[in-house]
Amino acid sequence: MALFSINPTKTKAWEELQLHFNEVHTMDVRKLFQEDVNRFENLSIRTNHLLFDFSKNRITNDTLSKLVALAKETGVEDAIQKYFSGDPINATENRAVLHTALRTPKGEQIKLGNKNIINDVHAARVKIKKFVREIISGARTGFTNKKITDVVNIGIGGSDLGPRFVTNALAFYKNHLNVHFISNIDPDYIQDLLVTLNPETTLFVVVSKTFTTDETISNASFCRTWFLQKGCILDIEKHFVAVSHNKKEAESFGIASENIFPMWDWVGGRYSLWSAVGLSIALAIGYKNFELLLEGAHEMDIHFKTQPLEQNIPIVTALLSIWYNNFYETETEAVIPYSQYLERLPAFLQQLSMESNGKSVDRNGNAVTYQTGNVIWGDCGTNSQHAFFQLIHQGTKLIPIDFIGFINPLHESLAQQYAKLTVNMFAQADALLTGKTKDQLKDADQNGLQAPHKIFEGNKPSSIFLFEKLCPKTIGILLAMYEHKTFVQGVIWNIYSFDQFGVELGKQRFKEIFENNSINTSKSSLYFTNQILNFYLKNKK
Ligand code: F6P
Repeated sequence: MALFSINPTKTKAWEELQLHFNEVHTMDVRKLFQEDVNRFENLSIRTNHLLFDFSKNRITNDTLSKLVALAKETGVEDAIQKYFSGDPINATENRAVLHTALRTPKGEQIKLGNKNIINDVHAARVKIKKFVREIISGARTGFTNKKITDVVNIGIGGSDLGPRFVTNALAFYKNHLNVHFISNIDPDYIQDLLVTLNPETTLFVVVSKTFTTDETISNASFCRTWFLQKGCILDIEKHFVAVSHNKKEAESFGIASENIFPMWDWVGGRYSLWSAVGLSIALAIGYKNFELLLEGAHEMDIHFKTQPLEQNIPIVTALLSIWYNNFYETETEAVIPYSQYLERLPAFLQQLSMESNGKSVDRNGNAVTYQTGNVIWGDCGTNSQHAFFQLIHQGTKLIPIDFIGFINPLHESLAQQYAKLTVNMFAQADALLTGKTKDQLKDADQNGLQAPHKIFEGNKPSSIFLFEKLCPKTIGILLAMYEHKTFVQGVIWNIYSFDQFGVELGKQRFKEIFENNSINTSKSSLYFTNQILNFYLKNKK
């Protein structure tokens, strides 16, 4: 059954939130802390592996209740039920949305039609496990019987960002294989990578759900040509494997049928790293660790499915985001992980959130009259403190932040040094909230020219996600949490979060201009672009 559809701004809960906002929007969180000694306890949620502290946000207990009422009135509980049970909630593509099935344990049942897809998921896992173990152990070799040393993941969007982020995030757990990622259609970059590789010991993993994505197929062809030029004509199957829903295309590219790992149409690209799309992850960190990643995600799935709305982390994060986006009219959200290993988290979340919720038509086909998807951005702490934090502290924009940190380092012996990293995160959250008044400046500074510039307004919102340690499980929990947050936002905004028609027009224009040779004509359809194209053509070698 379809998702319940209602314009959120027409609900009773929204009306009440608007009145509440008008009353409390100037609230000072510092005062709220003083008035309620239990604020941290009341506005934080603990699970086995995560402490989510949202007490530094511009909300009261009443705000939270009213936001939860909005979730209820817009049908979030019913939507969660449909999401997990395989209803075709991706209605614009007439598909179920079942990335959660990819981390569901063996023995459980999720039926699509008459088929229990959990059996397919686990059959694929057996195939992944066998392949990964053979490559890592060296039982499966290249065409000259040498062990594989390098893996090149070729994919883009969801077929790149998830595997790339997790492989980087879990680099500490890595084995001897060097895993590289090619996504952009930039031959200079690919060429420079290829010259460092030995074709005898390199495995290419071509990841494309459709197997028609131009960047991926062009890049894979480029690599295949390089491989064949090195004289390895007969043994392509030892060096090229694919992950795809389009087996036929993958085969016609030259990939042996047994080297094609499945992907299903009920998994969206940006939600797919838990499937064989994560093959490069499993190769990099080993199958056992890959399973732990899935276990972590499953743990968050259970939390999301079972916890009451006000104690439910993805729901609370989505509601906070809606509170800022739709009432405070903030346009962006920053994500700041205090771990160098999580450097690519903002890029991953940009696709997850902005491709899902960058929509302006509602589930009834009408133009929305309110804001939907935010701009997501960020970088690691502490680096970002020395780059863009000035604007967050003293600029004119209100930017809610998600801080993500770990209590303990990967290397136990580095506990003292590591404390500097994590405490910096607490210090930023604290400084953003506390601010600094004129009275708090040193006496000598109070009347000088710099005085007004050294004052910090404070009262800036942030949330903290604190994990015990960076490991496969915690990464699984974190990513599943953001997946569910994205879903809840989309449900409340009454949009379809699982299609991405917005990326098609650019692809189409590229095809028209590049493939149809209209690049050097002065077609009226290129009215806006002819001049720059002509300049380009004149100067192109
Ligand atoms: O163009 C956007 C997109 O469709 C993403 O949603 C997807 O993750 C990416 O392209 C790659 O698609 P494919 O896996 O089919 O190559």
